[in-house]
Amino acid sequence: MERREAAHQNGGMTASALPLIAIDGPSGVGKSTTARRVASRLGWQYLDTGAMYRAAALAVHRAGLSLEDRPALERLLAGLDLAQNQGRTFLAGEDVSEAIRSQEVTRRVTPVSADARVREVLVEQQRRIGASGRWVVDGRDIGTVVFTSACCKVFLTASPEARARRRFLELQAKGQSPDFEEVLEDQRRRDLADSSRAVAPLRKAEDAVELDSSGLSLDQVVDWIVARHQAHP
Ligand code: DC
Repeated sequence: MERREAAHQNGGMTASALPLIAIDGPSGVGKSTTARRVASRLGWQYLDTGAMYRAAALAVHRAGLSLEDRPALERLLAGLDLAQNQGRTFLAGEDVSEAIRSQEVTRRVTPVSADARVREVLVEQQRRIGASGRWVVDGRDIGTVVFTSACCKVFLTASPEARARRRFLELQAKGQSPDFEEVLEDQRRRDLADSSRAVAPLRKAEDAVELDSSGLSLDQVVDWIVARHQAHP
């Protein structure tokens, strides 16, 4: 794997670390908004790996493909053309930024993102992207699997209620009439699936710092991560 390594003087010892901030955590914790804001404050680029899994799930769905049909899945993965630009996600050149946020894709992405072969292909693409330049990357396995030598690893958490409340308000703002208990239950199912899957389950990297954002504003979370990065560049 190609990587641009930056050497840092660290307490008299030389450690090698990628100029990359990894932000992992469960769904609904505000990782994407936080990561985008941190990237903009630092003048770094932002990679949304969740959007990559969502776009892959959309491609699988559009192809009418079953994950059990391994030869067809291999063909789809070989031609999977994903890109991100200015916060938008493209599948074979088509802007799918809205389509990947649909309930349908949200439901279908869990099994797709648990597939070892899908992960292998997407992780390879993520590493290729992150090898050049300075990146803020958010996901579930960025600090534990994808970029284990990221210079800064943050594990962002919030109480299930705080996360569900956020999602509930987001759906209301979209004109929907969500049921809070249903939102909470759906989130509990996704938390369980993300943290109990066999491949790259959601967990905090040993060298990640954990931040509970339950009682914090977005600005406070962004300030905290930027300050943390500047103190440990
Ligand atoms: O963060 P999100 O809700 O957009 O992520 C969509 C799905 O992809 C979710 O089921 C978790 C999964 N995911 C993953 O398995 N690994 C990542 N690095 C990012 C997301």
